[in-house]
Amino acid sequence: MATTEYYNDKVVRQFLLAAAVWGVIGMSVGVLAAGQLLWPALNFGEPWLTFSRIRPDHTFGVIFAFGGSALMGTCYYVVQRTGHTRLALGKLAEFTFWGWQLACVLAMATMPFGITQSKEYAEPEWFVDIIIAVVWVSFGVVFFASLARRRIQHIYVANWYYGAFIIAVGLLHIVNNIALPISLTKSYPVYSGVVDAMVQWWYGHNAVAFFLTAGFLGMMYYFVPRQAQQPLWSYRFSIVNFWALISVYMWAGSHHLMYTALPDWVQSVGMAFSLILLMPSWGSAANGLLTFNGSWGKLRTDPAAKFMVLSLVFYAAATFEGSMMAIKTVNSLSHYTDWTVAHVHSGAIGWVAMITIGSLYAMAPRALGQEAMYSRSAMELHFWLHTMGLLLYVGSMWTAGVTEGLMWRATDADGTLTYSFLDSLIRIKPMYFLRWLGGVLVLAGMVVMAWNLWHTAADARARLIKPIPVPIPEPEPNQIPQPLPAQG
Ligand code: HEM
Ligand code: HEM
Repeated sequence: MATTEYYNDKVVRQFLLAAAVWGVIGMSVGVLAAGQLLWPALNFGEPWLTFSRIRPDHTFGVIFAFGGSALMGTCYYVVQRTGHTRLALGKLAEFTFWGWQLACVLAMATMPFGITQSKEYAEPEWFVDIIIAVVWVSFGVVFFASLARRRIQHIYVANWYYGAFIIAVGLLHIVNNIALPISLTKSYPVYSGVVDAMVQWWYGHNAVAFFLTAGFLGMMYYFVPRQAQQPLWSYRFSIVNFWALISVYMWAGSHHLMYTALPDWVQSVGMAFSLILLMPSWGSAANGLLTFNGSWGKLRTDPAAKFMVLSLVFYAAATFEGSMMAIKTVNSLSHYTDWTVAHVHSGAIGWVAMITIGSLYAMAPRALGQEAMYSRSAMELHFWLHTMGLLLYVGSMWTAGVTEGLMWRATDADGTLTYSFLDSLIRIKPMYFLRWLGGVLVLAGMVVMAWNLWHTAADARARLIKPIPVPIPEPEPNQIPQPLPAQG
């Protein structure tokens, strides 16, 4: 007699909870950092609380702890549902959860005390890097082993994106962090000079490409059709965009090093590939948005769908802006200014955070054995807090950035600079206040989400959740692609 197989949703729930907690922590540090730029007294005279020390805690906290936990949790959920199979290697999956949390706690606890490699988005020292590498490889093993035991012949497109994200991030992390430790808390990279800069920005840019984009596109390609209750607008288009995105992104990293010692032609290659990149980026954004055709009415009733639609709009906006900023003449105005910070956060709070929140709202009730989230009004409130906060953040930083860029390049008739640096700081101070306010609203929304999840998890806390059996499909030798993954 065949025994029933159940989805492994425990590890999914653990990552879900971790994402909510890290989201609140990472964004609280962001609000503090934004506050310090306005009121420096918020350093409280403590070296470990100064802006430079807590900034990497913010970026690591939101990207790797919050984003990483959400990506790993949804990835484990999606690979099971699309393959009609239980997650392979349950103990290793459990290890990836605890290992990732350990790496995040160690990184966040050491960086404020100056234990850092000083490489942006790769700050943690060698001992944390090794833990990250081991956990990441284990994550890959669990994912690909689960894919190998799928019962649906076709590999649904979301898994392609998750797979590319896992392979590329592993490669980037290991290559960029090759270093020589000289003590427990200090190491030196094996690269030096301009090669170090290029390796670092090959990593930094592709962290954006594969962590902040490909991984979240995996989420999008599963949860958007699910929430719209429609097949993907064009399945074929999603595959074309996949190959275009992964083959183009790797060449665009040098747009972070315009007008530096990097050879000029390398900078131009980065600019050209960044412009081409707009096509697959808008391709995926359009595919996601058009999937809502015929179910736009959902925007009136379903806050999770609203988060998803707005995330796609901001994905399109941030990638358009990025391609424009990669043009050398535009970059000469935007670089070093808050325009970059505006671009980052329209991608981060707009695209990354909104697709994550939408997907978590879609996944949480299913993974927690509930019909729906505990409070729909709280979801609605979250949507408006987040949207208002996002608009305040991006609008103010964009204004500040263009103001800075124009003031720094203004010259008098005799060629001397019209404004001092201080003049530009005084001019943008009100914008820093609006950014801080926007951050407070976004953070308030995250607290509302955490509260809502906590109540939705009532049964989980009482351990009353019934495991969901895996539906076993009829064996079909030549299955055609399933545009809409099976419900679970
Ligand atoms: C409550 C919401 C947030 C606030 C208040 C906030 C605030 C800040 C501040 C003050 C900075 C430093 C800017 C500077 O150096 O001038 C920063 C940088 C950064 N934040 Fe956020 N942030 C928030 C949400 C997020 C999220 C959700 C993400 C990613 C998922 C993110 C990713 C980043 C990145 C990558 C940088 C570095 C930007 C650069 O180097 O240009 N932030 N943030
Ligand atoms: C077509 C896609 C994109 C292109 C061509 C692009 C291009 C650029 C350019 C030209 C810069 C400024 C480099 C500089 O002057 O220093 C930049 C910075 C950045 N972008 Fe994008 N971008 C794209 C999409 C995104 C998305 C979707 C996100 C986030 C989710 C993102 C996150 C970032 C971050 C974090 C930085 C700041 C890096 C730093 O200096 O610390 N980008 N991007």
